[in-house]
Amino acid sequence: MSAIRSVVRGVGAYLPARCLTNADLVQMVDTSDEWIVQRTGIRTRHIAAEGEVTSDLALKAAQAALADAGLEPGDIDLIVLATSTPDNTFPATAVSVQAGLGITHGAAFDIQAVCSGFVYALATADNFLKSGAYRRCLVIGAETFSRILDWSDRTTCVLFGDGAGALVLEAVRDGEDGRGLLTTHLRSDGRYKNKLYVDGGVSSTRSVGYLRMEGREVFRHAVGMITDVIVDAFSATGESAETIDWFVPHQANRRIIDASAVKLGIAPEKVVITVDKHGNTSAASIPLALATAHADGRIKRGDLVLLEAMGGGFTWGSALVRW
Ligand code: UT7
Repeated sequence: MSAIRSVVRGVGAYLPARCLTNADLVQMVDTSDEWIVQRTGIRTRHIAAEGEVTSDLALKAAQAALADAGLEPGDIDLIVLATSTPDNTFPATAVSVQAGLGITHGAAFDIQAVCSGFVYALATADNFLKSGAYRRCLVIGAETFSRILDWSDRTTCVLFGDGAGALVLEAVRDGEDGRGLLTTHLRSDGRYKNKLYVDGGVSSTRSVGYLRMEGREVFRHAVGMITDVIVDAFSATGESAETIDWFVPHQANRRIIDASAVKLGIAPEKVVITVDKHGNTSAASIPLALATAHADGRIKRGDLVLLEAMGGGFTWGSALVRW
């Protein structure tokens, strides 16, 4: 039976120039390099320049992904952009990227699922491509979390950073040696919406607000939720911890990543970790990690790549890709 699959054609990323180290944070709040590294694995994060907005980061990541794919902006007919830190309340940040690329056909819209945003965007794009409605999609995760951090709150400000990453997906009939997105699994449970949230918003306070998190509570749920949805991906495909080549998790906290890999029986050498370099960049973290492991030659054509994320909502999800 003939079927359409979403095949990865290119990947790109962008981090703002300014780098904020743990030593810099020690000057700002009561913290230490030792505490941050031990509890999170984070050493540096990048901060967008004054006037540099989420769509600027996203545009650079998208251009890098297009260059990697050997495609022109005009080849793209769908842009799905995951962010919780849009340039404006509306229009969608995706349409600014569309305009920046000079694309006037097709469609562009945002997805909001906080740290799970990239997996949600990937699943959405995949379904549009498989339906035959669009041919080539930019799936982008882009954030400027520095703009919603309370820089006097040491329990949150040391954890997050700014950045963007993008994938180009192409609808291919009958695959190419089984390449493409094999399965996606999305979950949410709104009972936990107050564990990780922003204390402002258009309809509630008419302001932007600051990120608030019960870190220990998020941690407590994270490993179970992540591993459940990965087991779903394995059940749907017959793949396993042994058959995957790379595990590219949401980069929130090294301890959560390590504990999830151990629980699933994934060998440490298969785990891609970049959280040390950019902190938690929410929806941008998976494509940032993918871009790193693709650029340094770890992820190669035909490799089986497992993605997962968990974040505010709670939302969580997984995806399995034959690269
Ligand atoms: O993207 C998905 C969403 N986010 C996450 O995945 C984050 C999930 N949670 C976590 O990663 C961890 O819970 C944190 C890294 C946020 C915190 O680590 P923890 O081991 O759970 O620490 P804790 O919250 O239990 O705090 C332990 C202590 C507390 O002091 P007391 O009450 O024991 O005296 C905190 O006040 O560490 C203190 N603390 C700090 N100390 C130095 C909290 N933040 C800091 C800090 N520097 N930056």
